[in-house]
Amino acid sequence: MTSGDRAELARLVGVAETALADALARTAGPSARLEAAMRHAVNAGGKRLRPVLCLAAAAAIDPGADARRAAAALELVHTYSLIHDDLPCMDNADLRRGKPTVHRAFDEAAAVLAGDALLALAFELTAEHPAETARDLTRVLARASGPAHLVGGQMEDTLGLLGPASAERLDAIQRGKTAAMIAASLEMGAVAARAGDGARAAFREAGLSLGVAFQIADDLLDLQGDASVVGKPTGADAARGKLTYHGLHGVEAARAKVRELTGTCRARLRATGGRTAFLEALADSLIDRRN
Ligand code: IPE
Ligand code: IPE
Ligand code: MG
Ligand code: MG
Ligand code: MG
Repeated sequence: MTSGDRAELARLVGVAETALADALARTAGPSARLEAAMRHAVNAGGKRLRPVLCLAAAAAIDPGADARRAAAALELVHTYSLIHDDLPCMDNADLRRGKPTVHRAFDEAAAVLAGDALLALAFELTAEHPAETARDLTRVLARASGPAHLVGGQMEDTLGLLGPASAERLDAIQRGKTAAMIAASLEMGAVAARAGDGARAAFREAGLSLGVAFQIADDLLDLQGDASVVGKPTGADAARGKLTYHGLHGVEAARAKVRELTGTCRARLRATGGRTAFLEALADSLIDRRN
C-alpha cells in the first residue's frame, strides 16, 4: 500500500467507527448488561474490513454516496457471528480481538443475546435507507447472513472432518461462512451508490474471491500465526478437527491459492468500471496479513 492508500484506509476506518458509535447509541433498553455485552464485542477493536470494503465500493462508484449505515450493519452482523462462533458449543474460544470473548467476560446467556441483538440492530439500519435502496440492502444482507451462506456455512464448519474432506465441500463452507459476507460488503457499497446491475455483480464476484482468500489466510494464521498478534487462540482448528485448505492441499498450495484468488479479485474489481485502485491495493495488502 502507498502512504495515500494507508491514509484512505485510516479515514474509512474512522467513518466506520463513527457509524458504529451512532448505531450503538440506539441500544438503550431494559438491560444495561446486554448493552455492555454488545459494546464489549463491537468496541474490542476489529479491523473493520467489511465496513471499509462497503464504504470504498460506494466511493468507487459515487464519491458522494452515503454508505455509512450499510457499513455499520455489516460490522454488526459480522460481530454477532464472531460472538456466537466463539461460544463453547461452537469453537469454544476464550480470546477475540485480543480481549476475553463475550461469554468469558459476561456469560453464555449474555453472549447469545448480545449476538441476537446486534443482528436485529443491523436490519434496523438497512431499513432506514430510501425505499428501493433499503429493500436491496436488506435483501443482500439477509441472504448473505442466512441459511444459504453464513449460518449454513457455520453449521457445516462445526462438523469439520466428521464430514467428507472434499475440495467442493471446503469451498462451500468457505464461501458460506466467510466469503458471502465479504461479497455482500462490496455489493452493498455498490447498492448504496446506486450502481448498475453489471457493476453490482462484478463487486459481488470480486468479494467472493477475496473472501475465500481471506478465510484460507485466516486458517494459515491459526496454524502459523502469533496468537498475541492475531488476537485469538491459534492451533484451534487442528484441535477441533476443522476442514481447511492447507489441511487438504498443503501450506504452499494454500499460500499460492491466496495469491491467485487475490489476482482474480483485482481483475473483477477493474471490471466494475469504478475507481477501484484503493480496493485493489487493500486486497493485495491482505495477502501477507498478520492478523
Ligand atoms: C474473522 O474475521 C473471522 C473470519 C471470517 C475469518 P476478521 O479477521 O475480519 O476479524 P476482525 O473483525 O478483524 O476481528
Ligand atoms: C469464520 O471462521 C467464522 C465466522 C464466519 C464467524 P473461524 O471460526 O475460523 O473464525 P475465527 O478464526 O474464529 O475468527
Ligand atoms: Mg468457526
Ligand atoms: Mg472461530
Ligand atoms: Mg479461524
